[in-house]
Amino acid sequence: MPSHDLDISVRACVSCRRCYGSNVQYCSDCFIELVGIDLIPYIIGGRYRLEHIISRGGMGVIFAAHDNEQNREVAIKVFRSSALADPRAQDRFQREVEFASQIQSPLLAATLGNGVLPDASAYVVTELVRGRSLRDEMKKMRRFEIASAVAMLAAIADGLNTAHQAGLVHRDLKPECIIIVSEPNDAQPAIKIVGFSFARVALGARFVPGTTGRLQARGMLPMRVTYLSPEQFRGEEADLRTDIYSLGVIAYEMLGGRPPFTARRTGEFAAKLLTERAPSLRALNPEINVLLQAEILRALEKEPRQRHQSAGEFKRALLSAQQIGLRIVD
Ligand SMILES: Nc1ncnc2c1ncn2[C@@H]1O[C@H](COP(=O)(O)OP(=O)(O)OP(=O)(O)O)[C@@H](O)[C@H]1O
Ligand SMILES: [Mg+2]
Repeated sequence: MPSHDLDISVRACVSCRRCYGSNVQYCSDCFIELVGIDLIPYIIGGRYRLEHIISRGGMGVIFAAHDNEQNREVAIKVFRSSALADPRAQDRFQREVEFASQIQSPLLAATLGNGVLPDASAYVVTELVRGRSLRDEMKKMRRFEIASAVAMLAAIADGLNTAHQAGLVHRDLKPECIIIVSEPNDAQPAIKIVGFSFARVALGARFVPGTTGRLQARGMLPMRVTYLSPEQFRGEEADLRTDIYSLGVIAYEMLGGRPPFTARRTGEFAAKLLTERAPSLRALNPEINVLLQAEILRALEKEPRQRHQSAGEFKRALLSAQQIGLRIVD
């Protein structure tokens, strides 16, 4: 690669999200002027050519890229430098990327590498997972059939368990991070989990008044808070049981058709999350048996020690509650 290519930063089309080098001015598909993104190089680490923006979040930008060395498509997340400013966040980042690189599981997007850009922002390269997300499925149907929801939740719990056993906590689990890779008619759902946060999610910094406004002004979505655990909201240490909580929210939403707590403003949401019990799930969906409801509400306990203590335990509890419920109905 000519050395001057290394100096070219990335520009993207705000309409189709396609990426170009900064020597290009207009999108060749949409004919609109391209915009620069935080001086991120167009070719990262001398080998990954950025192709399009998958998503922009609070911690950074995710791109689909072409790996020129291995001739394959990958996903790259470039973290904003402020996301890892705290030395504890940097330590956790390093540790978790190392743990993740050692995991080989069909349930988790493989971590392929990581590095640091000239401006000191960190990046992580992962397998690019193609498929529809659980969010896409949720948009299609208001509520899931109980057996298919439990099968899906069991598959997600298996993925989480694999990560947790390797020392990796997701910390930002939400339906967008569950990519369904099975076909609609397959007997069992197959999923891959993406979007591991690889860092201490520094909520304190992210909820400073005005922060959301600034992020929105730059065209980013405000942070999604629905799936965050009470301890994350309080800015406390969040261990694997934070993922159990988030999976509890996903379970509640799949079966009840709405998440346990909703609010227009973050403050109102926080008040509900920290003080109110999740409303009855059976009031939303009377077909849910009492045991299944009890297990989902247990995952949503405010105190981590009152939840299931592992994703495996949550999975077994869901499956047996559903089985016992079926026998009671028989
Ligand atoms: N490896 C991947 N393959 C395919 N899609 C991915 C991959 N990684 C992330 N995505 C998609 O991009 C979305 C956003 O990624 P991610 O969850 O990491 O960021 P975020 O949580 O939205 O933002 P942030 O954590 O920076 O606040 C995911 O929910 C998923 O839909
Ligand atoms: Mg995230």
